[in-house]
Amino acid sequence: MGLTSADFEVVEMDTDLLIIGGGMSACGAAVEAKYWAGDDIKVLLVDKAAMERSGAVAQGLSAINTYPGWTRDENTIEDYIRYVTQDLMGISREDLVWDMATHVDGSVHLFEKWGLPIWKDAEGKYIHEGRWQIMIHGESYKPIVAEAAKKALGEGNYLERVFIVKLLLDEKEPNRIAGAVGFSVRENKFYVIKCNAAIVCTGGGVHIFRPRSVQEGLGRTWYPPWSTGSTYAMMGQVGAKLTQMEVIFIPARFKDGYGPVGAWFLFFAAKATNIDGEEYMVKNAPEFEKWAPYGTIKPLPTCLRNHAMIVDMREGKGPLFVRTDLAMQEIIKKDPKRVKTVESEAWEDFLDMTITQADLWCSYNIHPEKEPWEIMPAEPYFIGSHSGQGGAWCSGDPRISPPEYCWDYKGVVYNRMTTVNGLFAAGDGCGGNPHKFSSGSHAEGRIAAKNAIKFILNNRDFKPTIGDVQKLKEEVLRPLDTFEKHKGYTSVPDINPNYIRPRQMLHRIMKCMDEYAGGVSTMYTTNKPMLEKALQLLKFMKEDSEKLAAENLHELMRCWENYHRIWAAEAHVRHKLFREETRWPGYYYRSDFPRMDDENWRVFTVSQYDPASGEWKMEKVPYISIL
Ligand code: FAD
Ligand code: ADX
Repeated sequence: MGLTSADFEVVEMDTDLLIIGGGMSACGAAVEAKYWAGDDIKVLLVDKAAMERSGAVAQGLSAINTYPGWTRDENTIEDYIRYVTQDLMGISREDLVWDMATHVDGSVHLFEKWGLPIWKDAEGKYIHEGRWQIMIHGESYKPIVAEAAKKALGEGNYLERVFIVKLLLDEKEPNRIAGAVGFSVRENKFYVIKCNAAIVCTGGGVHIFRPRSVQEGLGRTWYPPWSTGSTYAMMGQVGAKLTQMEVIFIPARFKDGYGPVGAWFLFFAAKATNIDGEEYMVKNAPEFEKWAPYGTIKPLPTCLRNHAMIVDMREGKGPLFVRTDLAMQEIIKKDPKRVKTVESEAWEDFLDMTITQADLWCSYNIHPEKEPWEIMPAEPYFIGSHSGQGGAWCSGDPRISPPEYCWDYKGVVYNRMTTVNGLFAAGDGCGGNPHKFSSGSHAEGRIAAKNAIKFILNNRDFKPTIGDVQKLKEEVLRPLDTFEKHKGYTSVPDINPNYIRPRQMLHRIMKCMDEYAGGVSTMYTTNKPMLEKALQLLKFMKEDSEKLAAENLHELMRCWENYHRIWAAEAHVRHKLFREETRWPGYYYRSDFPRMDDENWRVFTVSQYDPASGEWKMEKVPYISIL
């Protein structure tokens, strides 16, 4: 007899603040929440993995990408807002960027205090990778940040290896958060957690689009495996408005290993060339002018750097190479004594954050100082904190945000609250607010937590009422029961007319998104009929997901991950369909609307799913600059 729902213990918990996720924004939220809450208010953090090595920073990083340094007079906050908005082709929630940027230096200084080694020059100043980025010895970045969060929370106030499946709205008060349900991925435990306020910090999404790495290489992607669109799915399902969900991120990376290129381009000043030895960024400069957001292309937006590659790839001028060889030879020529240092810096860039790339180079006997390596635009990822911008439509702070971007609950405005009362978002979950990266996500977690605690203090008499626990348990654990009931029907467990296994569903999702929604197989190109076809297929997948089957706890997690992927995919496709222009060439192309249309589309796209009727609504929200 295999595992069934009958084998599960129900664990019911009560907390004031529930932090879902254990990555950068969740760790920031934990530290800040405990600072304001003291011992009086309960704070519980739940991560599907182990905080020490969970989330996008799990493997370590070699740079902190957001350090405006305004506290040290390096830049102004306005400079940062301009850079971010320019990089996203003229659209960002400038108000949210403003207060993230205002607090992010503080998060970086905390990391240093907690023990993160940051590169420094002879005068003790941080060494920059680029204007906004600083270099770190960052292999242990996540353990350091997680340790501080765990210490602040205290033993017993964080659950690891517990996957949250869905949020619960209050049964008595409309549009108000009341809790969440999930299960342990190690023990037979079903969790029901009631709360007064919650912050969703469950990161972005991977394996929604089919990756370039298939077959033997499947699983090797740029974005790590932890996050599967739970953020967008869980918030969307309870009716939170989502914004800019069309803006996925396509990182240009060293081919196959997905090694980062930022340090190579910014720190080592490497160039990239096509098969004719031409620099595609120089050759395609006239093309950039057509896309200039507000008439300027400086600094050149991330998507346009991809676009230049794609133009050359379409012309058959690939493979494209990062000239690591020329860059290193140039540095060494200027200062021959630096040979060893430069070599070790180059390898550390990968060993700190993308070990696979170092492995790959070793397997192919690559000496980066002697020969170049290919660069390739990757598949699309959901990551609102990086150079994409999907996430929840969140309230701002009335002291800086336009009134149109602020809303209240019982007369008080709470910064980073979604349109569901008591539900907050941060990091990849807070939309329209890109270029937060690791440090900015931490800072935003702190902002959200401070406001969530204020919300709890102002609403202490709230008693959450949730639905029938037995029914919720049956729903969440159903894939186990489905498998157990039908597994004997066929001799090969993968082929069974009564159910679909999670791996099969994963491939369906990825194929659909790749072929119809602008994946690599169409060179990121899509149009209305293709997107409509994707929606139709996603609808079938949603129906079929009721028949997902799990053989064990791990597969149960895989089932729900896929369910979240389908939701995130649907939101993405609806947004892409709604925005009738091509604003981010290099991220995606609408072949039926091939140009940027500032007059009609320099706006935020906002979607909302109505949990009562099951209908989606799309709207344009006007762009308001605070500069
Ligand atoms: P994450 O830190 O990814 O955390 C998400 C958390 O949610 C994880 O703990 C995960 O286990 C948990 N989770 C997911 N689903 C569930 C669920 N259903 N239930 C419970 N828990 C769940 N930034 C830099 O500053 N410098 C860099 O060099 C840099 N390099 C990067 C390289 C890569 C490959 C990637 C992907 C990102 C990089 N970033 C970098 C960006 C940075 O990592 C992110 O901006 C940041 O981690 C986002 O924080 P977050 O809290 O939103 O998500
Ligand atoms: S990371 O997430 O893996 O660190 P990546 O290496 O691409 O990302 O970029 C790191 C930082 O450098 C980001 O702030 C990114 O916007 C910036 N960056 C990367 N390449 C370039 C470039 N060619 N020109 C300007 N900025 C760049």
